[in-house]
Amino acid sequence: MATPASEVPRIKLGSQGLEVSRIGLGCRGMSPNHGPPKPEPEMIKLIQHAIDNGVTFLDTSDQYGPHTNELLIGKAIKGMRERVQIASKFGISFKDGKMDICGEPEYVRACCEASLKRLDIDCIDLYYVHRIDIRVPIEMTIGELKKLVEEGKIKYIGLSEACAATIRRAHAVHPITAVQLEWSLWTRDLEEEIVPTCIELGIGIVPYSPLGRGFFSAGPQLIESLADGDFRKNIPRFKPENFEHNKQIFEQLKKIASRKRCTTSQLALAWVLHKGDDICPIPGTTKIENLNENIEAVSVKLTADEIAELESCAYADMVKGERHAFMWGTWINSETPPLSSWKAE
Ligand SMILES: NC(=O)c1ccc[n+]([C@@H]2O[C@H](COP(=O)([O-])OP(=O)(O)OC[C@H]3O[C@@H](n4cnc5c(N)ncnc54)[C@H](OP(=O)(O)O)[C@@H]3O)[C@@H](O)[C@H]2O)c1
Repeated sequence: MATPASEVPRIKLGSQGLEVSRIGLGCRGMSPNHGPPKPEPEMIKLIQHAIDNGVTFLDTSDQYGPHTNELLIGKAIKGMRERVQIASKFGISFKDGKMDICGEPEYVRACCEASLKRLDIDCIDLYYVHRIDIRVPIEMTIGELKKLVEEGKIKYIGLSEACAATIRRAHAVHPITAVQLEWSLWTRDLEEEIVPTCIELGIGIVPYSPLGRGFFSAGPQLIESLADGDFRKNIPRFKPENFEHNKQIFEQLKKIASRKRCTTSQLALAWVLHKGDDICPIPGTTKIENLNENIEAVSVKLTADEIAELESCAYADMVKGERHAFMWGTWINSETPPLSSWKAE
């Protein structure tokens, strides 16, 4: 069943020429987000192991750490720059402990330049708007990103947590290469409108948290294992009143995995991989053995009946609690004002 790690297939993501590994590596958990930061030498080893084994699409953001995740990746890819595709993001900042979202052109440029320095590279392969600033017409934000492409500071543009209307408006200013959204067995709301829009416009999709933030890997034990300060403790689905109900989803997944002779992580990843060829999930891990296991998900084949069975385990009405602690900052609320309303100061 297993594909040798060195044979991770490559795919074209979007229509502008970006080529990435079939599966990427989410680096967020390496820095303080999922509890305390993990030891830097170990994380550098993990990232280099991923690259050596064909997982070359690394996902970060200026917000992870904040900043330390990009610094870590910058160190890890020394001497390997040509072998990796770096995806980073801007748009979320924390001021006095409060989350702010900014898409103003000057901010876009300043963030990009700071990320380039931290990553210690000349050009970011894929630069995403992490969250949509609903005070700024998306045309203004993308207009600045377009200039950064022309200046060679970024190669491709992406959007994260954007609704279909915002994706269309952005794409009209400059081709969007990829949209990143939470997509997993228990988060499927994007399938109605966003996925068809991306297919129509030739935009690749990067599913984040494809393992349900660890739930499809560890099941009920995940909650017990969360360190102090792990932000996942605030996710409504993981709150005791909902989790007690949600954990039955994992039990069903376990039965199917045992029949398929694979792990539940591999099953969850295989499900999203079967959603299309222009899709690159970015499971996050801080452990080499988990990375190796996730790579092998690429070779798990599912029949249409198996896909239907998996989907019946976690259909929308069965899952209790929102997927995110800050739903106001997600694609559901990401329409921006018309360009005509913008008055530059
Ligand atoms: N655009 C956005 O707004 C956004 C939001 C969230 C995340 N992201 C990106 O998406 C990436 C992945 O998302 P995520 O980290 O939230 O969730 P995820 O990939 O669904 O799950 C990560 C969790 O699964 C565990 N895990 C991974 N592989 C495993 C395996 N084979 N066996 C057992 N446990 C395993 C990890 O623990 P170990 O470390 O112990 O392996 C970690 O706790 C992030 O790193 C980030 O780059 C983007």
